Amino acid sequence: MKVLFAVFSGTGNTRRVAQTFAEGLTSLGHLTELYMIKKGAPMPEVGQYDVLIVGYPVHAFNAPTALISFVKELPAGEKPVYLLRTSGEPSKLNDASGITPRRILTKKGYSVKGEFTYVMPYNIIFRHSDGMVSRMWRAACLRIERDIRTVDTLQGELRKVGPLRRSAAFVLRIEHPAMPLIGKTFHVAKDKCIGCGACAKLCPCGNIRMVDGRPKFGIHCVGCMGCSFSCPQDAVRISLLNLWRVNGKYAFTGEPSTDEETCRYLHGMYNRYFHETEDMALRTEDL
Ligand SMILES: Cc1cc2nc3c(=O)[nH]c(=O)nc-3n(C[C@H](O)[C@H](O)[C@H](O)COP(=O)(O)O)c2cc1C
Ligand code: SF4
Ligand code: SF4
Repeated sequence: MKVLFAVFSGTGNTRRVAQTFAEGLTSLGHLTELYMIKKGAPMPEVGQYDVLIVGYPVHAFNAPTALISFVKELPAGEKPVYLLRTSGEPSKLNDASGITPRRILTKKGYSVKGEFTYVMPYNIIFRHSDGMVSRMWRAACLRIERDIRTVDTLQGELRKVGPLRRSAAFVLRIEHPAMPLIGKTFHVAKDKCIGCGACAKLCPCGNIRMVDGRPKFGIHCVGCMGCSFSCPQDAVRISLLNLWRVNGKYAFTGEPSTDEETCRYLHGMYNRYFHETEDMALRTEDL
């Protein structure tokens, strides 16, 4: 099979998962290609592929607007599609993020076969510890191993989202019109910024222009946090959200945290996710 991964990723988590997934499918003999959704990038020739995997990070229990615009731009088609998403929390509320892309894809004739969610470190709110990140990555790899087989056999299942979760996601969709307004007020700390232009180059929405050696933020921000996360000087100030700023890449290596070391926030939820994944891997090994 020829499999196209079309992925939106602000800070690299979704890209990392998609890349590992693609490597797994390649090792099973499939041809895979990774297309990064970025403003100005020509649309991929979806018709050339047998399967489409659409990847995105969850933003406020929804899919980012950049992902939704991409899905809307796709030509009509009948091929199988999977949704692959990453989220900072192992919350079932994140399943609601699949509702809109699923609806648009189905309307276009695609057959949405399944959805995969991987918990990855936060790029906003607070920085996960190195141990947590290692354990998350270990869990993600175990899940990817299982999910590759699902795509290989064109199986899969869709998440059921009840009215309560739908309503919560609907309310938080306020993020979509709010983010361009908040993003317009992003700025840089003048004493820190060295004018390297990395943020402008990286922004997947083409929202940053370099003017007189300094970044200027436009009105197309989707709040992906790529600029503030990746700035080598930690110079980007994200306005109202600044206290939640997370800067600097995660290592993904090292000793995974124990249950006791799991971050205190949503402690039980993370441990349940880790245990479920580890038990699932043990059951698969037994087969
Ligand atoms: C604006 C914004 C909103 C987010 N909202 C959620 C959320 O509702 N639930 C969640 O679990 N994680 C949330 N996250 C965390 C990201 O989904 C998570 O860190 C993701 O792996 C980032 O992927 P990326 O590196 O591919 O951009 C949010 C992140 C951002 C920047
Ligand atoms: S990446 Fe940071 S240092 Fe470089 S131009 Fe952007 S804000 Fe300035
Ligand atoms: S301005 Fe920053 S947060 Fe907004 S879309 Fe661009 S990289 Fe993402």
